[in-house]
Amino acid sequence: MKSFSIHPASFIKGEITLPSDKSISHRAIFVSSVAEGKTKIENFSFSKDCFYTLKAFQRLKVKIIKKGKNLIIEGKGLRGLKQAQRPIFVGDSGTTIRLLCGILAGQDFTTTLEAGLSLSQRPMKRVILPLRMMGACIESLNKKNDEEYPPLIIKGAKLSGIDYTLPVASAQVKSSILLAGLLAEGNTSVKEPIETRDHTERLLYQFGADIKINKDKIFLRPPKRLKSAGYIWIPGDISSASFFLVAAILLKGSYLKIEDVGLNPTRMGLINVLKRMGAKIELKYKIPDKDFQEPSGDISVSSSCLKAVQVKKEEIPSLIDELPILMVACCFAEGKSIIESAQELRVKETDRINSMLDGLLHMGAKIYVEKKNQTENIIIEGKRHLKGAKLRSFGDHRTAMALVIAGLLAEGKSLLDDISCVSKSFPDFLKILKEVLH
Ligand code: S3P
Repeated sequence: MKSFSIHPASFIKGEITLPSDKSISHRAIFVSSVAEGKTKIENFSFSKDCFYTLKAFQRLKVKIIKKGKNLIIEGKGLRGLKQAQRPIFVGDSGTTIRLLCGILAGQDFTTTLEAGLSLSQRPMKRVILPLRMMGACIESLNKKNDEEYPPLIIKGAKLSGIDYTLPVASAQVKSSILLAGLLAEGNTSVKEPIETRDHTERLLYQFGADIKINKDKIFLRPPKRLKSAGYIWIPGDISSASFFLVAAILLKGSYLKIEDVGLNPTRMGLINVLKRMGAKIELKYKIPDKDFQEPSGDISVSSSCLKAVQVKKEEIPSLIDELPILMVACCFAEGKSIIESAQELRVKETDRINSMLDGLLHMGAKIYVEKKNQTENIIIEGKRHLKGAKLRSFGDHRTAMALVIAGLLAEGKSLLDDISCVSKSFPDFLKILKEVLH
């Protein structure tokens, strides 16, 4: 644990590039490892989470060479992974464990997946259940109150395709089913209640898989083989950009350009909401959204006055990881903001509704939760001045970064109990922040 003092800032100015997208980085390793041929992954995310995915595939005997920010992966083919001699430890990376469940379920060996403290308390049934319906043999060694948690034992089995409707919108669950579908007999389709990030679909398409998307349903015909596309370039992480965007919008006199950020429409929720609130944000696409490529480009932002906003349930998956920093933005917007159906935040690295309310209430914000049936809406009455306070990150990277930004905007000094957790997604967060902060 490493505490961190935060002092009010004046403004932000500069041009930056950010570390690459974590979600795409994970998937680039997954898909390249089971493809045939070499893949060069340029601009990989060396966050802690992605490092666990890298290590996991090395343990499954995939040759991965690191050269600066790039990786060279020698793909083993769909059934070429080899048994790890000991359990594979995936740290606290939810994407690593849930996607591994899918790709390992159809292999011909057994794998044990162990997790860190926070991931060991996150629900796995949402991914285990559909995989079991496909024939997977996955056992949890940690069952409580009708839920299943890591460690997980995955015994490779013969899988059949499935036609599945996700009960909860989750890109991790969708991706896991699609990866299992690669190894199944018969077609797999996944229907989403609300569209979630589609990085897996885009990559599979680029690697030659027969994958089609029709409105809210994804269809996959299992390929005989996946052929490496040879090269993947990963753009900057829009989720990491979100903290800088909100700081630049709210600190008067700021201007910031963030270059080469992923602009995938399934990840654009925060930008759309901030624009609705009155933020001056401009996008310049360098790679357009066509032919299943990952679109990317530059984001320019300058300080703006924000008004309150209503975020609809349908928007939540497109900004799920940006909700902590959106809560901070809403504290400074004129009027009452409502974020509908935010309950998925309860099962992230920590309960992010609890962690963000804890921090913002200590700073004097007016923020509360309204529970209706199974859903939870977050209500924020904005245009209050936040005051510096003692803050807790609860070991969660996105809570920590959102509260650091809140501290820059507050009156007086704040002290955050632990900043080291940011390395989960963004080890250089403070370094880059210091470069642009005045
Ligand atoms: C992710 C999907 C989201 C997100 C997580 C990364 C992914 O989780 O919160 O940080 O890479 O697929 P869910 O799929 O559980 O919503």
